[in-house]
Amino acid sequence: MLSYHPPMELTRIGVTAAAGAYSVIIGGGAIESLPAELNAAGLGPRRIIVSSKRVWKLHGKRFRHATTERVPVLVDDGERHKNLVTVGKVHDALVKSNADRSTVVVAIGGGVIGDLAGFAAATYLRGIRVVHVPTTLLAQVDSAIGGKTGVNHPLGKNLIGSFHPPSLVVADPVVLDTLPRREFRAGLYEVVKYGVISDPSLLDRLRTSLPAIVAHEPAAVAPIVAACCRIKADVVSADERESGLRRILNFGHTVGHALEAATKYRRFRHGEAVGYGMLAALSIGVVRGVTPPALYEEIQSLVAQLGPLPRVSDISSKTVLAAIARDKKVVAGKLHFVAATSRGHTTTLTDVSEKEIRTALKTLGLRA
Ligand SMILES: NC(=O)c1ccc[n+]([C@@H]2O[C@H](COP(=O)([O-])OP(=O)(O)OC[C@H]3O[C@@H](n4cnc5c(N)ncnc54)[C@H](O)[C@@H]3O)[C@@H](O)[C@H]2O)c1
Ligand SMILES: [Zn+2]
Repeated sequence: MLSYHPPMELTRIGVTAAAGAYSVIIGGGAIESLPAELNAAGLGPRRIIVSSKRVWKLHGKRFRHATTERVPVLVDDGERHKNLVTVGKVHDALVKSNADRSTVVVAIGGGVIGDLAGFAAATYLRGIRVVHVPTTLLAQVDSAIGGKTGVNHPLGKNLIGSFHPPSLVVADPVVLDTLPRREFRAGLYEVVKYGVISDPSLLDRLRTSLPAIVAHEPAAVAPIVAACCRIKADVVSADERESGLRRILNFGHTVGHALEAATKYRRFRHGEAVGYGMLAALSIGVVRGVTPPALYEEIQSLVAQLGPLPRVSDISSKTVLAAIARDKKVVAGKLHFVAATSRGHTTTLTDVSEKEIRTALKTLGLRA
């Protein structure tokens, strides 16, 4: 039996995109209103759900009323299935069900499902509409908003993709109930990121309400999701294509992505790598004199409070530096590095040297 959660007040945030504005609806019980929201946004008549086997088994019953097709398209999720083969399976299903240009893909799952279903929608008939119903904390606070879609190439993460903003996002913290602890915590590091780059009250909230947050209490989680969505919505509305402001969202991601790549995406959950990446960025900032040491200490203790991170002592700095050199954040040979200047404010450094990164990696505990 599914437990009944009375709908809480829903938060509605608008996002502007070149392809058209869309709403992000957040709150406990928000998925109850999914069919009505789809109707109100003119998203139909045909809706095809794309989800993962695991998510559907846990939550499928909640969504039966949202689709016009009897059978959803179920694919495997997890990073190693985020590839063109899985996208092909979604295309096959769309073709077989005679999906046309008015058909809407409703992606229900974590960031992997969102990214790959979004890309399948972006490429089917040169683009059909997609709605995101994110079911991990990471997807709710980050990946569902902003229109980045895509899959991995055997030689690198997210190398194949396109911008394809959704037509609606519905984020309901109630579905996070079933999320494994580690997955939930991984999303919290992204919340820390929003706290550092834009809204320090998130840092205070994490510190003071952590027990209620990790207990997945919707009343504690929903305002956090809403605050993060608001920041992401504002940032991508101002800079959809990441030519400037959107880069602040990469805080902690230069070293974070490199740690993921250096360990072949097997050791860290993305957020965990970002946890280390933020500490690296803060320590570079401190050495540079742009980041107050107190901020480094605050985030270090908050990251420690969130729980243990996978070990890094056996990872060589050399491998991580090589991965940084291949990163998408290298623009015309220069690495764009986001550093924090105070709680809620950042600056971009364009001249961070290999030596500075090496020192930061040593501080994290990596081997030379
Ligand atoms: N498009 C963007 O802007 C953007 C931003 C950040 C991250 N991403 C991408 O997001 C992906 C990571 O997303 P993720 O962390 O959500 O991982 P994920 O989609 O792999 O989900 C993690 C695990 O949680 C399970 N799961 C999902 N919802 C659940 C639920 N409610 N209960 C129980 N289990 C559940 C999944 O089956 C999976 O095993 C990466 O591929 C990353 O590149 C994209
Ligand atoms: Zn991230």
